[in-house]
Amino acid sequence: MKILVLNGSPKQELSDTMHITRAFLDGMKEAAPQDIHIIHVIDRHIEYCTGCFACMRNGGVCIHDDDMRAILQEILASDLLIWSFPLYCYGMPASLKALLDRTLPLSGMAMQKVGDRYEHVEQADFSHLKYLMICGCGFPNSRHNFEPAVAQFKLCFPEDHTIITVPESPMFNAPEAAAVTVPRLALIKQAGWQYAEKGEVDRTLLAEITSPMIPEEQYAAIVNNGV
Ligand SMILES: Cc1cc2nc3c(=O)[nH]c(=O)nc-3n(C[C@H](O)[C@H](O)[C@H](O)COP(=O)(O)O)c2cc1C
Repeated sequence: MKILVLNGSPKQELSDTMHITRAFLDGMKEAAPQDIHIIHVIDRHIEYCTGCFACMRNGGVCIHDDDMRAILQEILASDLLIWSFPLYCYGMPASLKALLDRTLPLSGMAMQKVGDRYEHVEQADFSHLKYLMICGCGFPNSRHNFEPAVAQFKLCFPEDHTIITVPESPMFNAPEAAAVTVPRLALIKQAGWQYAEKGEVDRTLLAEITSPMIPEEQYAAIVNNGV
């Protein structure tokens, strides 16, 4: 499978969230050979969308001639798009949001009703794409935290999406937390294996992965002791 990872953490390889993503990819690679390319979005030149809609009217060419042209080609040539990012203010980091906005050339100006909402009609064929969101965050609570990012992802990619959210993710970069992070990464690897084999992850496994690794009060106390 051709996999494109969009790493939205400005910490690049040192990202807490990338520990989750790498474990998932390890599981996928154990199931079958995979062709993986990782883009650290912060390293790329991606201008902000100006909202001119020129791309939606002229067959998909943006007014900006920057790295996004090649990234769009790479997206279209992929089978699976992994959006790996830390939760920032209940959403995705700005660099990754800039990239998301710049996927506008894939759609045309015309809109159509799908179910009870409207979507723009595709002007490129990306119907083959599958989407995976992997999101880490710094608080121990998932409720009242991940919902906006999850809702945005589901609306942007209504078909073929899988979503993995993991609270307390700074622990992945803390060697002293290995007693809980190593087993959690093993579960995530298992999820990657399942995804490669079946195209989805069991609900029970997802629920285990998305639960806090240590009780939230204990996590908050550890963080607060280090402040
Ligand atoms: C600007 C900013 C905003 C953040 N907003 C949230 C948030 O809304 N909820 C949360 O739980 N953590 C939040 N965090 C914490 C990060 O999600 C957390 O540190 C994460 O583990 C960083 O992952 P990374 O190493 O992959 O970048 C925020 C961090 C920053 C720098």
